[in-house]
Amino acid sequence: MQSPKGTFDILPYGADEPWKQAFLWQHLEKVIRETATDYGYGEIRTPIYERTELFSRGVGDSSDIVMKEMFTFLDRGERSISLRPEGTASVMRAFIENKMAQERPIHKFFYLGPMFRYERPQSGRYRQFYQFGIEAIGSPAAAQDAETIDLLWEICRRLGLKGLKLDINSVGDSASRLAYRESLQNYLRPYFDDLSQDSKTRFEKNPLRILDSKDPKDRKLLEGAPSILDSLSAEAKEHFDEVKTLLDKIQVPYTVNDRIVRGLDYYCKTVYEISADVLGAQNALGGGGRFDGLISSLGGPELPAVGFAAGIERILQTMLAQQAPIPAQRGPLLYLLPLGDDAKRTCFTLASHARHKGIAVEINLHAKKIQTGLQMASKLNARFCAIVGSEEISKGVVQLKDLESRQQEEVPIDSLIDLCLKRKESL
Ligand code: HAM
Repeated sequence: MQSPKGTFDILPYGADEPWKQAFLWQHLEKVIRETATDYGYGEIRTPIYERTELFSRGVGDSSDIVMKEMFTFLDRGERSISLRPEGTASVMRAFIENKMAQERPIHKFFYLGPMFRYERPQSGRYRQFYQFGIEAIGSPAAAQDAETIDLLWEICRRLGLKGLKLDINSVGDSASRLAYRESLQNYLRPYFDDLSQDSKTRFEKNPLRILDSKDPKDRKLLEGAPSILDSLSAEAKEHFDEVKTLLDKIQVPYTVNDRIVRGLDYYCKTVYEISADVLGAQNALGGGGRFDGLISSLGGPELPAVGFAAGIERILQTMLAQQAPIPAQRGPLLYLLPLGDDAKRTCFTLASHARHKGIAVEINLHAKKIQTGLQMASKLNARFCAIVGSEEISKGVVQLKDLESRQQEEVPIDSLIDLCLKRKESL
């Protein structure tokens, strides 16, 4: 049996690629949780599936995600259900449904979990992938946009990532987008027949998304296209200028890239993407922006919001490619190696008592030879190995071997736990 195409396992050991090792995921998740908490974001967990309508209304009917990439099925009650392709629409649904707007003026959430998109799998692109994301609801201020960017940048800094590129743009308010839509269509109209099929379809439906085209011929045509920044309303321009000023003040380096429009329909004003060149074709680590109209379009109050999401696989792959510092995988402090039935019983009890005191212990109840037991202890990255044979049992001691210094000492069994506690503190 094989896992479905585009999915993978995360393992405690034995992974076929280093980024699939569970301890790396735990490290990343810890840094994300700590940083998000430092910035005042609280965790939100929503279901992995929702009614399909949430995504068609939330993410947008004309987005690739909704048109081509959703895992959609009818449940046994004939309701159309989709696995979540992203987190924003679900978080907004939960916010509205739980009437959270009444609680306070500003709401800041973060989430971590699997998302599902039926894309063509390749390196860095999966059908079940993991995102962490944040959403800040209630503030129209440019400072809120800048705070989300600062948080994304800080997580990357704490993870030791280097040489990242941050592209920012503004897609304006609806008046700006309407004006730009027209000037982009006017520019592209003479070349319509040369556009790719996808871009032809987008020409009327959502011309801004043509800027996202990967087709080389489209890309060439787009080189001379007008800039959305020239169509911004005075208010949208002022907002964007303030975001840039604030990023300058906190020294987050960015490039203004007027071709960034993002693949989801809900954005307005600020949009941004962060990328790493070590990743090859799928180089976007994360992206986000402002989405002031989404909550009301889903039936909630008229509240502005801004957020981002980042791909965990891609961040881990970048960390490994850049040899970012990662804490070593922790092994047991104590590895118990009993030889003989009496020793096994004594060690079994000892292991239980030591674990109750918070000492990480592994016990080998099946070793026939000291040598193979010691090899296993080293493989597990254990720090100390206690060898307990029948002679040790009759004397009430263990032979305690320090697997780092290779030194061995005889220790009374009764004082082993206290000794381990002391050594644990001094490590
Ligand atoms: P997105 O740009 O679609 O935005 O996804 C964010 C990140 O998820 C991407 O930059 C990428 O790292 C990762 N990602 C997306 N698809 C895949 C895939 N098939 N395999 C691996 N990684 C992938 C959103 O999802 C928005 N909800 C972000 C947002 C939050 N905007 C506002 N708030």
